[in-house]
Amino acid sequence: MIKKSVIPFCLMASLTFGMTAYAEPHPSDSAFDNKIVKRIKVDNIYQTIEDLSAEPRVAGTSSERNAVKYIEKKFQSYGYETERQSFEFYSYSGPTDIAFSVSGFDDTDWELGTFTYGVNGSVTGELVYAGLGREGDLDDLDLHGKVALIKRGEISFADKVKNAAEAGAEAVIIFNNASGVINGTLGGPDDGYVPALALTREQGQLLLEKLESDEALTATVEVEGAETKESTSYNVIATKKPDKHKDNGQIVIVGAHHDSVEGAPGANDDASGTATTLELARVMANMPTDTEIRFITFGAEENGLLGSYAYAESLSEEEIENTVGMFQMDMVGSRDAGKLIMYTVDGEKNVVTDLGAAAGSRLSETVNYGQEGRSDHVPFAEIGIPAALFIHAPVEPWYHSPEDTIDKISKDKLQEVAEIVGGAVYQIARPDTPALENAHVAPGPVDYDFEERELE
Ligand code: BES
Ligand code: ZN
Repeated sequence: MIKKSVIPFCLMASLTFGMTAYAEPHPSDSAFDNKIVKRIKVDNIYQTIEDLSAEPRVAGTSSERNAVKYIEKKFQSYGYETERQSFEFYSYSGPTDIAFSVSGFDDTDWELGTFTYGVNGSVTGELVYAGLGREGDLDDLDLHGKVALIKRGEISFADKVKNAAEAGAEAVIIFNNASGVINGTLGGPDDGYVPALALTREQGQLLLEKLESDEALTATVEVEGAETKESTSYNVIATKKPDKHKDNGQIVIVGAHHDSVEGAPGANDDASGTATTLELARVMANMPTDTEIRFITFGAEENGLLGSYAYAESLSEEEIENTVGMFQMDMVGSRDAGKLIMYTVDGEKNVVTDLGAAAGSRLSETVNYGQEGRSDHVPFAEIGIPAALFIHAPVEPWYHSPEDTIDKISKDKLQEVAEIVGGAVYQIARPDTPALENAHVAPGPVDYDFEERELE
């Protein structure tokens, strides 16, 4: 329960006021911003990025664990107690070798695709067409010991593979129903899979025509070297408690992901957001607030937002109710990216974008908003918490590449984001602003620009 009794819509009014007063920021708000702005040391952020991006921080590896320890130490040095939330996930490394051959097609160069979570095996058997691979498609077929040829569509790849395997097939070929090669996923590991490869629509149709003209075909499917591993990743949580006498029950989350993709040092994606989260935690460590601020760095974002899903799932109904906003910073420091933008999952503005826009107009310039998922704000939005991703768009060419390194990081970009997110968070967390009521309800009309931007 939010304890402070408030006039509903009061903050909305003050936000609207803040918005309409973009040209002339309210002097007291600017004075409060200064408590944040004057404390931010961009060199801290820069140094943290440099430290974290010495090597890739792939979730589940020892380099992620080193990053986690580094982050914990930093939070602790600012006086925070930290919590480490661990969660299990599956990581998959694709096959090292795949092969496909069909009798009578010795000269064909097969255009093959693979499926994430696909299993290894070497199978030779009669090729049998099994339609879309739905349960009903397989009733009259004897697939025992055979290779099932299945068309893409209607049900998932995983269900096609499992249905065929249940009907006795020892391997599966799925061909496309559109142009190009399929590089799909089976969604997760399952004991019911048999080796599966993907084929283009044209090549699948070619085989289908042969089978339909009653030609018997023998196919060989080989998948080797694929590996599914269960790993552990972590979220790091540092909580700034509100002042005992001023606690209004509100919670705000400031987050970023500390993991990176394989081969990428992830200086911008997302050591930049992690380092800015740490700096805001340092800046706010001893500032009186009426709102609890949870600074969180998430693991395994690059594996499907796994850390933020794990965290969002661990929240109680009461915590969800009391969490008025989630600020995600992801890729906030590239000198080669575009302007700062706030993305919400549904493309609508919310409390977080309102606070961000107001802070932007007080401190630097108009910050637009648009629609995008693809980061840790998504799981929070899905459970009804107003959330936004702060990112520069269009993104830099170094995204997910070995070139995502410290030399591409701009201190000016970092400074601006730290000020805007810091100013926005402090506006709601400082004791003299009223608690938000109805934060989970979209606020009334606020006048700032909507802009869809090119991402890449
Ligand atoms: N930082 C990116 C997200 C991003 C990139 C957002 C470009 C907007 C523009 C993030 O780390 C990422 O790469 N996310 C994945 C999605 C996730 C569900 C695995 C992506 O976009 O491929
Ligand atoms: Zn990212």
